[in-house]
Formats: sequence, structure tokens, C-alpha cells
Amino acid sequence: MMDAIRASIDVDPAFRADVLAGLSAPVKAIPARWLYDRAGSEWFEKITALPEYYPTRTEVALLKRHCPDVAAIVGKGSAVIEFGSGSSYKTPILLNCVHPAAYVPIDISGDFLRDSAAVLQVGFPALPIHPVEADFMKPIALPEAVAALPKLGFFPGSTIGNMVPRTAVDLLRAMKDTLDDGAFLLIGMDRIKDASILIPAYDDAQGVTAAFNLNLLHRINRELRGMIPTASFAHRAIWNDGKARIEMHLEALADVRFTVEGRPFAMQAGETIHTENSHKYGPRDARLLLHAAGWGVRAEYVDEQDQFALLLAEAEPPRFAP
Ligand code: AVJ
Repeated sequence: MMDAIRASIDVDPAFRADVLAGLSAPVKAIPARWLYDRAGSEWFEKITALPEYYPTRTEVALLKRHCPDVAAIVGKGSAVIEFGSGSSYKTPILLNCVHPAAYVPIDISGDFLRDSAAVLQVGFPALPIHPVEADFMKPIALPEAVAALPKLGFFPGSTIGNMVPRTAVDLLRAMKDTLDDGAFLLIGMDRIKDASILIPAYDDAQGVTAAFNLNLLHRINRELRGMIPTASFAHRAIWNDGKARIEMHLEALADVRFTVEGRPFAMQAGETIHTENSHKYGPRDARLLLHAAGWGVRAEYVDEQDQFALLLAEAEPPRFAP
């Protein structure tokens, strides 16, 4: 009883709704954002350090190497607007070299946002920081204090890859509306590459990615009175070539029946719950995606092995000509 009361107080109603709808659908799927609770975020941190997971270390190296190039194009004294509450590792690299006049992290989770802003302020005591608690999928009114400054948006980590292309374009267009005319956007995108590299990056030998994915089932059991037999599920990472994406699934290893919040569900052996997409973009794909949302590519920074791209995009002025 206490558990039920607690759960009904603490649980995000959107999580409950997404899980119940996702498990009821003919092809089961749960939005990837629910992977990132506290435990899931800790698992993801471990993923970023895995030998097989090239994206984080490749992007960090690109950021270190090319930040001066970005600074030369963007100039000093802009407002850096980060979509997401920022990483204690990547954000300082950028701030140290572009010498911004202000930093605005935007995140839907106010707690994360204030914590990371406080940590960053210690390293940059003179930098005005204006956290904004908001959903950056929609255009946002930026704080008055940065209204007159030129803007540099920052969206690293290939987070854009989580979204299907139509949602990615919606987001990039919302970012353009938020940042306004003349703005720049520095964005990380993972490249299409051989499945022999992609699959291990999402199905590592130590089983860290498996634990990250399976944590979703544990979370459902913890927060939604779930009775899912987690040992009957396995992590799967597959390359969907037609959609140019890695898909993470949780596969039932046997026929299973379970309840979540008292509602019955059944899965056959081999049936999966689709839990995350990670879209990959070739050079032209990346440019087209940005272009479709009103961004022109000003510079492109890629590692020697063509694994990951940092793109510096510039908001295009409206055009009425053909
Ligand atoms: C956080 C979406 C960038 O797609 O590479 C990594 C998530 N999932 N391993 C990615 C993830 C499993 C990651 N992103």
C-alpha cells in the first residue's frame, strides 16, 4: 500500500501513459527518453567510456581540435545557448575558447539544470549563466539579458540521432526560431559506417549497454508496480539500413505474461519492445537535414576515420526566390 501511494505521488504520469500505450501497441515501443532516469543516466555515462563506443571520445577530440576554428568564425562575446543541461566535460571546452558573453543552458529537468549550472559557475566565475527550464522542442523566449547578443547554439553528443528525421527537422527549426537571425549552431552528428563498428558500439562486450537498456524494465517494475520477468529479456542492437539507424530492442526470450499497474500484457518468444533509435547521417544527409530546417552549413569538422562530424551551421535568411 505504501509503495502504491509513493508510486502514485512520484511517478511521472507521462511515463505511465507512454509505457501502458507502448506495451499495448501491435509493435511494442517505449520512447527513448524514459531510458534516462538516474540509473539510466549513470549507465549512459559508463557507455561513453567504453572502448567500443567511439562517439563521445571522437567528438571531444574534434571539439578540442577545432574549437579555435569555430571561435574564429563566430567571434568573441556571443551568447552560447546549449540545448540540454550541458556536460561537465564538453561544455567547458567550448566556453574556454569561444569566450562568450553569456551561457544559457536549456533543459526540461530543472534539477539537472540547476546542478550543472552551479558546477559550471565554479569553473567560470565571471561568466553570466542564465539557466532556462523549458522543452527545447518548441521555440523559447531567451532571457532579456542575452537578447542583443549574437547567438551560438550548441547541441553535441549526436542527441539529434535519437529523433526520427521529421522530428529532427522540427527540432532544428524550433532551434532556429529560438536563436533568431544570424545565429550559429554547433551540432554533433554520428556518421553512417560499417555495421561491424556500429553494432559493438551499441552491444559492448562488457554488457554495459545491455544493462542500460534493461534498466527500463527495472524502472517499470520499480515505478509502475510492474511484474516483468526481467531475466526473460535480452538486449538487442540491430542496424536498420533502410532507415540508417541503430535500433535498441528488448527481446522476450520465451513466451511471457506479466502485469504493469495491474494491466495484463503478453509477449511471444522473439517479440521485442523497441526502446531507442540512433540515426546516422552521411555527409550529404547531414547537410540536407540542416538545410530542410533553414540552416546552411558553414564548416564541417570530421575525424580521420570519418566516424563523427561536428557541423557549424548558420541560420539562413528567408528566401522568396526559387
Ligand atoms: C545519447 C542518443 C547520443 O545514440 O549513441 C548509446 C544513446 N544508447 N548507447 C547514442 C545510446 C546506447 C546515444 N545518444
